[in-house]
Formats: sequence, structure tokens, C-alpha cells
Amino acid sequence: MSQREKYAIEIKNVTKIFGPDPQSALDLLKKGKSKAKVQAETGHVVGINDVSIHVEPGQVYVVMGLSGSGKSTLIRHVIRLIDPTSGEIYVHGTDVLGMSLPELREFRRTRIAMVFQKFGLLPHRSVIDNVAYGLEVRGIGKQERRMAAQRWIDTVGLSGYEESQPHHLSGGQQQRVGLARALSMDTDIILMDEAFSALDPLIRSGMQDELLKLQAELNKTILFITHDFDEALKIGNRIAILNDGAVVQEGRPEDIVLNPTDPHVEQFVADVNKARAIHVHTIMDVDVSESCEFSVPDTARCEDVLPLFADHEWVGVVDSEGNRVGRISARRVIKALARYHKAVTTGP
Ligand SMILES: Nc1ncnc2c1ncn2[C@@H]1O[C@H](COP(=O)(O)OP(=O)(O)O)[C@@H](O)[C@H]1O
Ligand SMILES: [Mg+2]
Repeated sequence: MSQREKYAIEIKNVTKIFGPDPQSALDLLKKGKSKAKVQAETGHVVGINDVSIHVEPGQVYVVMGLSGSGKSTLIRHVIRLIDPTSGEIYVHGTDVLGMSLPELREFRRTRIAMVFQKFGLLPHRSVIDNVAYGLEVRGIGKQERRMAAQRWIDTVGLSGYEESQPHHLSGGQQQRVGLARALSMDTDIILMDEAFSALDPLIRSGMQDELLKLQAELNKTILFITHDFDEALKIGNRIAILNDGAVVQEGRPEDIVLNPTDPHVEQFVADVNKARAIHVHTIMDVDVSESCEFSVPDTARCEDVLPLFADHEWVGVVDSEGNRVGRISARRVIKALARYHKAVTTGP
């Protein structure tokens, strides 16, 4: 298997310029002119600027950026709702840009599901018919698709609402319908464009938890778009940060929080809850010679261990098989959290 086939999604040097003569604007962009300069000189809008990312199977990959940074433009390329001005796109090694129209239609029907910010539900259909819609398009019979839909309605906690109309549901419930519809497609890739952004904070946080729980069972590949850095840190295995259509930093959440390499990223990091973002295993002492009375799993975050320091100087860290892989102290946690705070006192 080639490296390309091992990736679920690969986006390679993709640039998208909106306007009547994108090539002329592309030349300026390649000469290093900024999005603003290109726009001022040619009237063309740079949607995406030379983006390369790859998503491995089973990953939750988050693309994060402010409004207008190019997130929707990027995710739409993956199912070719938008064609790039230049660049390449592969899904499980298949060249998406090389697909014929029938191939593309089949690809969209069977390989990738999408969840939208505004839910995208069909207003005059019941919940169950909305959830079963993707299967209907695929030509699956009524009974079979309703059975499949019921399973996902139950999974997302909407049992009893099967025959309700979408407008009778709250925003959070409507988003669950959107999620159930995507899950019922049984694709291994799901694209989510600001899927939780329209929800109230508490509902949103609950949906994030549920997505993570579902993902632990289903092990899908999820490309998740958000403008919220906290959300990105909470759910992403990896994060790419977009600014003016270009990736300004890419990496694991803790790498970005511990080491922002770009002024734009530093601004996000300054406001974030670092105790939630940093996993203990990234800052632990790998010494395993001393025994520890109490241990946490290596998936724990700093905020999870903080209360333990009231009673323990050192807390052990164990891997998924229960083997000790290190230990962590309050001092280590504080050092990591304090790293990016400017000193407010100058000492004696
Ligand atoms: N169809 C279009 N025509 C012209 N410009 C567009 C079009 N779609 C998006 N853009 C521009 O591309 C940039 C990225 O937009 P978008 O991908 O929607 O950002 P985001 O999803 O991050 O808010 C913005 O400057 C936007 O104005
Ligand atoms: Mg968008």
C-alpha cells in the first residue's frame, strides 16, 4: 500500500481563487503577494492558499480558523462541491479530481457523509425520513432504511421523536438528526462544517462529549471544522489552523498550545484553558523507578490530575494496558501552564 492510499484524506497544495480569471491571480499569489494585495490588485478573492494536509484513518482532524479564513471552501473540496484552481485531492488514495461525473455521484452517495452547521434537514419530512434520506438516495428499500435509521436515532438519543417534524425540535435535537443522518450513511469518513457552532454552549459541550464517545466506538475518520479553538483542542487528534486561506500551524493540540509558532496562533493560545488542552503524558517525567500510590491513564489532561495533588506529591501515568509509563507532579503541571504567561512580577 502506498503512503497515499494509507491516508483517508490527502489535500495537496490546494489553492482556490474566486473570480473570472483565477490564473492571473494565482501567478501573483505564487510571487508571494498576500490575500489582501491580490484582492486589491485583481479583485479576486483567495479562498484557499496552498493548503496541504493529510488525515489518517480513525483521526478526528480539526481545521480551525476565524470566519472567512477558508474553512468551508476547504472542506467542500473534499467532495468536490468546489474545484480547486490548482492542487490535488485524494480520498483513500483515489484521485477525487480525476473522477467522472457518475463516479463522483457514487462517491458522494456512498463514501462520505456530511453534517452542516444549519442542520440541512428537509423541513416537510419526519425525523426518521430525514435520517433515512441518504439511504433512500442510495436506493435502499423503505423497511431496511427505516431499521437502519432507527438504530441511529436511538444512538443519538432521539427515540420517540421518529415521526416529529424538524421544526418541532430544539436546535440541539435538530443537530442530532443531522448527525444521525450522517451516521446512517455508514461511511468511514464524515465531514462536519461548524456542526456545533449554532448550539448553545452547554448543549454544544454535551454534543462534543457525545461525538467523542461515539468516535471511540465507531472509529470513523472525521474532518471537523470550527472557529472555536477550545472546541478544536477538545475534539481534535490533530489541528490545522487557517488564516487568510493558508495553514499557519498544524499539529497535535498540545504541540500547538505548548509551542505556538505564529503570532496569529499565539493569540488563540493566550486565551485558552491550557489545563484542558495539555495531556499529562506530554509533560510527564518518564521515570518509572519510584512507585506511585495513585495513577491516571495517559489520556488524562492536566485538569484531571490537579485535584489529586492535594493528597499526592507524584501521580503515576499508565498506558492503556495499565503499564506505568511515567509520573507527574504539580510542579510540572504548573511549569507547563505558566510557560506562556508573561511574568507579572520582577522578583526581589
Ligand atoms: N463563491 C464565492 N465567491 C467569492 N468568494 C468566496 C466564495 N466563497 C467563499 N468566498 C471567500 O473565500 C474566503 C473563505 O470563505 P469561507 O471558506 O466561507 O470561510 P469560512 O468557512 O472559514 O468562514 C472568504 O474571503 C470568502 O469571502
Ligand atoms: Mg464556513
